[in-house]
Amino acid sequence: DLFPMDTAKFVAAKQATHYVQSGMKVGLGTGSTAAWLVQCLGEMVRDHGLQIKGVPTSNRTAELARAAGIEIITLDQAKWLDLTIDGTDEYDANLNLIKGGGGAHLREKIVATASDRMIVIADASKTVATLGAFPLPVEVLPFGMQITRGLIEELLVGVDVLGRDVIQRMQGDAPYVTDEGNFILDLHLKSIGNPRQLAMMLNQIPGVVENGLFIDICDVVIVGHGTGKVEIRD
Ligand code: A5P
Repeated sequence: DLFPMDTAKFVAAKQATHYVQSGMKVGLGTGSTAAWLVQCLGEMVRDHGLQIKGVPTSNRTAELARAAGIEIITLDQAKWLDLTIDGTDEYDANLNLIKGGGGAHLREKIVATASDRMIVIADASKTVATLGAFPLPVEVLPFGMQITRGLIEELLVGVDVLGRDVIQRMQGDAPYVTDEGNFILDLHLKSIGNPRQLAMMLNQIPGVVENGLFIDICDVVIVGHGTGKVEIRD
């Protein structure tokens, strides 16, 4: 028996497996919802002869996928992917997203962009009218990090947001370090008036590696509910 939140994530993940066919190369997302997907796909590989190659979006997902019996290849070995299935922290009516709560949005964006389709699996709590209540993760190079932070703070003064706190993500007493060896700044913006513009402006700053806004990348959102019901947004 699952808690309603787990049921919601599970039914969304299960529904997403209907998009996966033998022979496909599939990007595997990161987070608790994507972990359900990896379990479901692993079961289809083991028990139902599904043949896929997976490209994980994080070291954590790579471990889960290996344990589940899914064949893992690198993105460059894959060259291109049929499909990426990933979770999200927020999605809006345009299917634009905030991702990176799990610190993996850099690889997630590279993988999703190298896919014919990106399918997002989410519980209903991820639905928002306006992006930004969830702090926007920005991956930055450790080199000159305080300069980069200052430039981000300056940029925020001129854009349509309701909060402007920039907080470095920590893991205990040490900076959180991404799979690529970088740091994360969480931007507490409360509401983002123009996500497309903000995404472009942030990536203009030299020390910024990638921000967590996914604009025009996601094609389908599968929303799971605690009751077991699923909705498709596309
Ligand atoms: C990882 O960096 C994020 O983009 C995740 O996709 C996001 O945090 C969703 O995680 P949950 O499925 O655990 O909510």
